[in-house]
Amino acid sequence: MRTIYFDHNATTPLDPAVREAMLPYLGEVWGNPSSVHHVGQRARAALDDARDRAARLLKSKPSEVIFTSGGTESINLALFGAARLRKPQGRHLITSAVEHHAVLHCFDSLAAKEGFEVLRLPVNLEGRVPPEVLTKALRPDTTLVSIQAANNEIGTIQPVAELGALCRQRGILFHTDAVQWFGKEPFADIHQFNADLVSICAHKFYGPKGAGLLFIRSPLLPDPILFGGGHENERRAGTENLAAIVGLVEALERFVPTPVFSRTQLSPLADRLKALILSLPETTFVGAGEHRLVNTISCLVAGVDSIALLAGLDLEGICASSGSACSAGSLSPSHVISALDVAPRLANSLVRFSLGRQNTQSEVDHLAKILPLVIHRSLPVKGTGFVG
Ligand SMILES: Cc1ncc(COP(=O)(O)O)c(C=O)c1O
Repeated sequence: MRTIYFDHNATTPLDPAVREAMLPYLGEVWGNPSSVHHVGQRARAALDDARDRAARLLKSKPSEVIFTSGGTESINLALFGAARLRKPQGRHLITSAVEHHAVLHCFDSLAAKEGFEVLRLPVNLEGRVPPEVLTKALRPDTTLVSIQAANNEIGTIQPVAELGALCRQRGILFHTDAVQWFGKEPFADIHQFNADLVSICAHKFYGPKGAGLLFIRSPLLPDPILFGGGHENERRAGTENLAAIVGLVEALERFVPTPVFSRTQLSPLADRLKALILSLPETTFVGAGEHRLVNTISCLVAGVDSIALLAGLDLEGICASSGSACSAGSLSPSHVISALDVAPRLANSLVRFSLGRQNTQSEVDHLAKILPLVIHRSLPVKGTGFVG
């Protein structure tokens, strides 16, 4: 049975050229960049070079680039670091109802344990935060706003530049979780988001797992969340994972300026997938019409629990997801779907197909044959309550 992978928003395979670029740092260049001797200095030179390359690509200063262990850590550093730094000025924080749990759980913790008040903005039917909704929510004691660039479950793209500008006019810090944006949407430079803090993660665009970056606009210096040595401009203690960092930078250079998730290649596949979803009586498309990641097509399947459906697809070799990989396996409804105006009984029936560069028309055609069969197999047998 062939494997058909439609789950690129969960993760992507490591690109062979990126792996090649990483290999010297898993082998001959093994020193600690903080050591004073020549073995360490070789690693230091490679680390400095990686930071310079990242800064050139982002059009930032090298000191504004903080290497982390991935999206989650970048987000934690941005949110805890900025909220705590600005606590003397105010305790009101704003995010949206459709953020990744890496964002929402940071805010939950700040509210529960550190005396902050957190507002989760509602979204419209497409999953977007209209700028006027943010404007109304801002208060004199608002110090930090975090709105994602693109949603992982339904692919909705937020008007981040506008939201960021609103915050900047008022001197409020703005963070964007751009984990799903990089490699998919056009990128000119890091300032296009009008954000003080931007979280990025390599494994969503064919880089290694465990590698991320937080852009911190100078002169902002958020409080660190990891303490120890003075690494990463005193913002992130811990000996650097040089191979992962080099892989991240290589993937950034290769796959971000010209998005590796090519619109030309993926649009016809996504259109075909969307047409399939619109044609089946049980499925409803969810997400934005225009402001959507080109690779992401999500649907609700009436009467079917997504876990049963995903298991059925997997038996046919097809990998899809019910949304965030971190909540796959849990039966709790998707908070993203709950935030849209859909019937609560549908919140457990989200299925996400996220395409990548190796997907083909014939794979989508194969899905078109299999999906109706799997849906029918997943429908509960009438009267028993069992899922057949
Ligand atoms: C929008 C978004 N933010 C943050 C993350 C967290 O990234 P990681 O699990 O790589 O730390 C993900 C991962 O799925 C994501 O999709």
